[in-house]
Amino acid sequence: MTKHIGILTSGGDSPGLNAAIRGIGKAAHGFFGMQIIGFRDGFRGVMENRTIPLDPAALSGILTVGGTILGTSRDRPDRMPVGGKVLDATNAIIENYEKNHLDVLVCLGGGGTQKAALRLKEKGLNIITLPKTIDNDVALTDVTFGFDTALGIATEAIDRLHSTAHSHHRIVVVEIMGHRAGWLALGAGIAGGADVILIPEIPYDVESIAQAIRLRARNGKPFSIVAVAEGAISKADAVIYQRAVEKKEKAKQKAQRKKAKAALIELDQHHAGNTLRLARELEELTHLESRVTILGYVQRGGAPSAVDRLLATRLGTACADLIDQGRFGVMVAARGEGTEPVPLEKVAGKRKTVPLDHPWVKSARHVGTNLGD
Ligand code: F6P
Repeated sequence: MTKHIGILTSGGDSPGLNAAIRGIGKAAHGFFGMQIIGFRDGFRGVMENRTIPLDPAALSGILTVGGTILGTSRDRPDRMPVGGKVLDATNAIIENYEKNHLDVLVCLGGGGTQKAALRLKEKGLNIITLPKTIDNDVALTDVTFGFDTALGIATEAIDRLHSTAHSHHRIVVVEIMGHRAGWLALGAGIAGGADVILIPEIPYDVESIAQAIRLRARNGKPFSIVAVAEGAISKADAVIYQRAVEKKEKAKQKAQRKKAKAALIELDQHHAGNTLRLARELEELTHLESRVTILGYVQRGGAPSAVDRLLATRLGTACADLIDQGRFGVMVAARGEGTEPVPLEKVAGKRKTVPLDHPWVKSARHVGTNLGD
């Protein structure tokens, strides 16, 4: 019997998504003779049954294309915005899974997608996920596709920012994505030779950063590059942030959605404007001009790197192998040169953050980088 596969992309777009779709599709169709359809715009497209055939023509020429040919969204099956209301679309998704006679739904996404995928598995659907995000914060996989491309983009940006820093004797503060994990900022900061790297895992003391910058100035280098993760936070704010996290968790446990949402907004308010505030404080403390560059969505754009194309292709073909074996309910994790199917129960709800004793942290310190502590 020909197997039928449904594929969706969910969460933030990322380089490598189309390479992964191509890897799954070419292996499943060309090697195993399976039929593949794509759902538009993440889980919303499954709810609305908006599909496109992923035949060889649709898969041709997409290896190097950024973004996702299917479109994406952050809509969750159990909390789907419809006409100004928020509905549980799980049953509609199950119906359309069956209407399309699917043998499996493959979900390409980050942490939020892994959680949504587990819920659908628990409802009895055959699910496989692939770990996608530029943040590299999905648990139990060596790396996520999208990370390497964003690392290269952010590193090149830092390389270029050195010019204005030493020409104008300035502090250049560059904000790097990564949500609540510091992988991208730490990796690009090291690769780009940043003098200061601030990550969410190490709450910072502005005075410690200023001292490092003043010391550089005294040693004839009146300029510094500060790579700051968008989730980085000062020690003072970390205390307030932790209180907001506890408030959110308590409200969630009591299923008090409104209170949980309010706590989440409070959290995000702590991050909004952090980088601008930090730049202003450093200028006051060091008497060096400071300027801010926020890399934002540039880090998610354009063609995937060779590393991400290779990673996305091998995860995609490994996914097709698992479908052929009838192995479901797992994420296809990158493991060394190969892959490993990891049960969704072990992945969902966990975020991979930078361990304080990680080799990259040690390397940064040993080359004299200030980490804000
Ligand atoms: O998860 C990837 C990511 O780019 C994060 O680094 C960033 O915080 C977030 O997405 C931005 O989300 P959105 O694309 O919904 O604005």
